[in-house]
Amino acid sequence: MTARCARGSGRFFPGTTDTFQGLLNRVASGFEQGTLQPLDVPVFEAGQVGEALEAVHDRSIALEIGAAETVEALPEKQREGIIRADGSYLVTGGFGGFGITLAFWLAAQGAKSLVLVGRRGAATPEAKYALKGLEAKGVSVWGASADVGKEEDVERLIREIQAKHPPLVGVFHTAGVLDDAMLTDLTPERLRTVMQPKAMGAWYLHRYTQNLPLDCFVLFSSISALVGRSGQGNYVAANAFLDQLTHARRARGLPGLSLNWGVLAEVGMAARQEIGGNLEWYGIGSFTRDEAMRMLELALRSDYAQLGLMDIDWKTWLNANRASAVALRYQHLSDNAIPEFSAIIQALRKELQDMDEAARLGRVVTLLAGLTAQIMRLPEDALDPATPLSNLGLDSLMGTELRGNVEAHTGVTLSILDLQSSNMEQLAEKVLEGMGY
Ligand SMILES: NC(=O)c1ccc[n+]([C@@H]2O[C@H](COP(=O)([O-])OP(=O)(O)OC[C@H]3O[C@@H](n4cnc5c(N)ncnc54)[C@H](OP(=O)(O)O)[C@@H]3O)[C@@H](O)[C@H]2O)c1
Repeated sequence: MTARCARGSGRFFPGTTDTFQGLLNRVASGFEQGTLQPLDVPVFEAGQVGEALEAVHDRSIALEIGAAETVEALPEKQREGIIRADGSYLVTGGFGGFGITLAFWLAAQGAKSLVLVGRRGAATPEAKYALKGLEAKGVSVWGASADVGKEEDVERLIREIQAKHPPLVGVFHTAGVLDDAMLTDLTPERLRTVMQPKAMGAWYLHRYTQNLPLDCFVLFSSISALVGRSGQGNYVAANAFLDQLTHARRARGLPGLSLNWGVLAEVGMAARQEIGGNLEWYGIGSFTRDEAMRMLELALRSDYAQLGLMDIDWKTWLNANRASAVALRYQHLSDNAIPEFSAIIQALRKELQDMDEAARLGRVVTLLAGLTAQIMRLPEDALDPATPLSNLGLDSLMGTELRGNVEAHTGVTLSILDLQSSNMEQLAEKVLEGMGY
């Protein structure tokens, strides 16, 4: 086998070659001359890769690739379908961005009976189009109208599924709404708006399905519950509830998976609010629907109870979230990131050092204008440095974001009051003062 590998190394290691080929030739001739003996390990053919991967847990193995060009690397049981044709799948928020994507993915995986739920049922043109598309694939779809934040609706929904459809085998809870507000503006009503469909919805689904033999109970949580985001106190609480409900279910031997999704591009609540571009600045990228479904499949095949599925550059994120960078839970990520974070500030300090007073002020005004324009999504030249930021339209949510960004770039922490009552020139003076000028 080694001799064959030596002859074919160009194919296995394109571009490496001479050194590797030389080593392999020496090993191969060692075997041919009898100076080397094969190890006592079981040898598997390429077609037995599933068995080989399972055996590798216990001992070393050898895999004979032979002439095969491609090898299916997933063990047999991992290639088995995870979605059944003989049961029903319930998708709450089924006509939302994630919901419709998920419904088509379930259909592609072999599901034949779907229950898609929204308060308005299949009311929008996209929802109607999706229903037709799914039915054309031979899937029976019930576009149900129910408010999952109401216990009686969930109870009725589950009862009707069990009475009129194939038995429920999977629940995907994607229903949710946003109502972002700073804590000071967060009324009980606004808390309820967000908690009710997501957290209470999950709780009612748990309550009314806990005695059914489900294969999966998947809750669509958010990255916000892992890293937090200003102005999302209600949303973070609702998602954190989903994460904990999953762990509580697992502790009782029930299936449960909480997915802390990052940003879905193309469709859904983040795409509608166009927040992707803003988050990229914090190191949070987005993923496509296809990528999301590939991650979902891996998550469903795994044994994890909770998974963060996101595209995030931790260094950038920590640089833009200085307070978090020092928190214990990020320490293993921040060790290498913090020097880079100070490098941004050091570079600015070095630049300012050689400038006279007026140039220094101008440099910091330009920096602040850039950061403010980015957050307010305005062109930089639309910001008059002499106008107070609150008159430019900076609200408290944007103010918190700006404060973090100014801190990351200058090392100076401004108060929200300063940010709202000052103009850019006054803020630049405060920043320079904070930097010791
Ligand atoms: N999109 C993202 O980037 C992202 C990132 C992280 C987490 N998530 C989470 O993933 C889930 C789905 O997000 P999405 O982007 O698909 O949102 P979406 O497009 O806004 O869809 C949410 C759906 O939930 C339904 N819904 C809201 N309240 C409901 C209620 N009380 N009862 C029944 N249905 C209700 C809505 O339909 P009706 O208005 O007809 O009720 C809507 O179609 C959400 O829980 C969200 O928090 C999304």
